[in-house]
Amino acid sequence: MKRTHHCNELRSHDDGQTVTLAGWVHSSRDLGGVIFIDVRDREGRTQTVFDPSSLPKETFDRAAALRGESVILVTGKVRRRPEGTNNPKIASGEVEVAAQELEILNQADVLPFPVDDPEVASKVNEELRLQHRYLDLRRPEMVRNLRLRSKVATATRVYFDEQGFLEIETPILFKSTPEGAREFLVPSRLHPGKCYALPQSPQQFKQILMVAGVERYFQLAKCFRDEDLRADRQLEFTQIDLEMSFIEREDIYNLVEGLLKRVWKTALDIDIPTPFERITFEEALNRYGIDKPDTRFGLELADFTEEFRSSGFKVFNSAVANGGVVKAINAKGMACATQGQIEAMTECAKSFGAKGLAYIKVENGEWKSPIVKFFTDAEKAALARKLSIEEGDLVLFAADQWLTACEILGKIRLYCAEVLVTQGKLAVPGDRFDFLWVVDFPLLSFDKEQNRWYSSHHPFTAPVAEDVPLLTSDPRKVRGQHYDVVVNGVELGGGSIRIHQPEVQKVVFEQVLQIPPETVKARFGYMLEAFRYGCPPHGGIALGFDRLIAILCGTPSIRDVIAFPKTAKGTDLMTDSPAVVEPKQLRDLHIELKAAKKP
Ligand code: AMO
Ligand code: AMP
Repeated sequence: MKRTHHCNELRSHDDGQTVTLAGWVHSSRDLGGVIFIDVRDREGRTQTVFDPSSLPKETFDRAAALRGESVILVTGKVRRRPEGTNNPKIASGEVEVAAQELEILNQADVLPFPVDDPEVASKVNEELRLQHRYLDLRRPEMVRNLRLRSKVATATRVYFDEQGFLEIETPILFKSTPEGAREFLVPSRLHPGKCYALPQSPQQFKQILMVAGVERYFQLAKCFRDEDLRADRQLEFTQIDLEMSFIEREDIYNLVEGLLKRVWKTALDIDIPTPFERITFEEALNRYGIDKPDTRFGLELADFTEEFRSSGFKVFNSAVANGGVVKAINAKGMACATQGQIEAMTECAKSFGAKGLAYIKVENGEWKSPIVKFFTDAEKAALARKLSIEEGDLVLFAADQWLTACEILGKIRLYCAEVLVTQGKLAVPGDRFDFLWVVDFPLLSFDKEQNRWYSSHHPFTAPVAEDVPLLTSDPRKVRGQHYDVVVNGVELGGGSIRIHQPEVQKVVFEQVLQIPPETVKARFGYMLEAFRYGCPPHGGIALGFDRLIAILCGTPSIRDVIAFPKTAKGTDLMTDSPAVVEPKQLRDLHIELKAAKKP
């Protein structure tokens, strides 16, 4: 149009120039008959001045009647602001534009919530903001998030191009392979009774691309998973997805470290140190009680299995006798925990199936706990030494099977850290980024309810070579060539070296995962066939792009970095989706609704 400048551009050296600005009425103030309108566009704000003494009455009246967020075109002369009225908060704060012409492109109605004051706007309830997302996205914070997202996407593409990767799109209408998360199905009109499924990830296609000889593939891929939503999970999300041939784990570590180095430099101008630390799954669980540890603070778990093997406290000795462990954590300075906090932690332990959560409060030089009377002096000395127990501490115990005990204390550790941070007793710096690789995951996990093994990651992950013979004899012991990249307690990405021999893949599907051969053939037959016609060794990884951007933006919710996210209930409040469809549409898809539940 006729716009000459963006609203962040004008400076005092533009004094005297005639300019045209286009944008939204950010704010409007009537000061003694003169109207000051801040015009805002994507880049910034400029103050315009409507003075009745130098404007036709008709123009002035239209300016006076403008409502906030109306879209206007203003032409006028740039002038320095009078002494003492500069606004250092905005880039164009040295100048203002004395308006001469005003064109109203769209007069806005009264808004459902204010967008001019970021303080107020950020407190508006999220439902209302999502319903009017176009207004919410006008907030500078959201503009910044979307801009950063775009910048990181570009940096990612440039990086992979430099590294010889091809960006290849894979289908969105895929086929159901109900191995991982629940899928979204798309009924076929042309094939009555049959469905496509939306991809949970491009996993199978990217492996096929390796068989096709592409060697290096990447994609900013849309993925769909019908899971329960959380702050860090959406039904549809984006991955930085990649796959490479003729490589080993180290090559993926190098490549991803290079990418994240580039991204942190581009987005935050921070040089992150590489290589990242590595920690095995077992060590992560033993020390932090979780496979995605936040290592910015200590509060590490300690093991007391040996010390309490023949303890006088039955809860502990029987856990050990049953093949379990006794672990403890010292929440330094938390002896003042309220009854409510102790109950919350105990409930957490119980949600893992534990009967309770033993603890000791160290107050007035005394160990206050009903269980201390069962401890010998040697047991107490071991606790004091390994946990450096001091006045004011709170020691919490989990006695259970190894994984359960670790996981309980892992949750308790995060809970205590949160409490201690709010009390100012623990510092968890938000501007520090602790990256690590978590490696040597167990290839398989056992599902007690279904009494079968399932893949910890996905069924295409290769076992560590020396563990292959254990696949059928002792599956529990098999380590996978799987790796996760973690930052500040967030699982940013995960991947693996894949199985590339059809025979091994068949053993995993049929003998280990117990999928009937006919089902394997129907679901994965094409892959097993492809692997027989020249399949290079290959591996890859996918990083959660939304999570990556959320971390860079310093927000806990990925909804803040997705232009049009779904609510925690999986709805889009703006378009009102999901929605009822016409009976004819269902008939075309050969679908009959049994009993449509009333909303
Ligand atoms: P995985 O399932 O571990 O691996 O996913 C990789 C990364 O994607 C992100 N992520 C999500 N982000 C937002 N919402 C979700 N619902 C969601 N689910 C996952 C996480 C996660 O680390 N095909 C394999 C990768 C491979 O083996 O190469 C895969 O999808 O950050
Ligand atoms: P009880 O002897 O069952 O009354 O339990 C004594 C204490 O041990 C209580 O404080 C329980 O909360 C706690 N407790 C019970 N089971 C466990 C467990 N598996 N791990 C740690 N503490 C436990």
